Amino acid sequence: MTGLLELHDVSLSFKGVRALNALSFSVAKGEICALIGPNGAGKSSLLNVINGVYRADAGDIVFDGLRFEAIHAQKAAHLGIGRTFQHNALFRRLTVRENVLAGLSRHGTASFFENIFRLGRDGAERRGFLARAEQTISFLGLPRHTERVVSTLPYGLQKRVDLARALVSGPKLLLLDEPMAGMNQEEKEEMSRVIREANRVFGSTVVLIEHDVGIVLNLASHVVVLDYGRKLADGTPDEVRKNPDVIAAYLGTVH
Ligand SMILES: Nc1ncnc2c1ncn2[C@@H]1O[C@H](COP(=O)(O)OP(=O)(O)O)[C@@H](O)[C@H]1O
Ligand SMILES: [Mg+2]
Repeated sequence: MTGLLELHDVSLSFKGVRALNALSFSVAKGEICALIGPNGAGKSSLLNVINGVYRADAGDIVFDGLRFEAIHAQKAAHLGIGRTFQHNALFRRLTVRENVLAGLSRHGTASFFENIFRLGRDGAERRGFLARAEQTISFLGLPRHTERVVSTLPYGLQKRVDLARALVSGPKLLLLDEPMAGMNQEEKEEMSRVIREANRVFGSTVVLIEHDVGIVLNLASHVVVLDYGRKLADGTPDEVRKNPDVIAAYLGTVH
């Protein structure tokens, strides 16, 4: 098994709840991999282990050829793992531009607040950051909203700002936790288009969590199904769609 990301027998428990149970799978460079499974299956926990928010109890992770028992969150960001959270982690009182700049703060020498409040030590670094932020904002179709305070934007646009924040550093691996939650069909399709473009243009490998199976089967090239912290299925959308275990446990059996 060789991939940009490999998980080997990763387990994680919370006070007796086995969130992840000896989970192994591999994500190839360049692919869009979807994680699906019912609520509580361990999907968010898995992303949290990959980017160092949680530490696995057992198993290890290989990212870009480096093996880890645990990755610290800062190290993960530094290695090129970007992510969005199920409940977005934007600075609600700051503007779109400021939030997107925050996605670059770990990548420079000036601190986050220096960047935000335009006190950058290094003018060249700051101009570079601003240019990248503007590029990403345009790429995501947000230029009209650059100066808007995030809390005043509709939810769908906030999700897009969150994606811009994760994408601005050009991550090798982009982890998206329910980027389309709460969206209508049209918004989901638009978000799918944006994710596909990000994968193509930025070259980011994507692992995303999404409940809408129709959307997932169209967007992803690889689908991993989780159930009670275990891997129920792993394959192409077609393989997963036809997998009897998936049909029974997740897609629902018709009697
Ligand atoms: N920080 C935490 N503390 C305690 N239990 C947690 C924590 N995070 C997740 N869990 C538990 O782990 C299991 C998997 O949760 P989660 O990864 O959020 O699932 P999913 O994202 O698939 O809905 C659930 O039983 C959940 O209650
Ligand atoms: Mg979740």
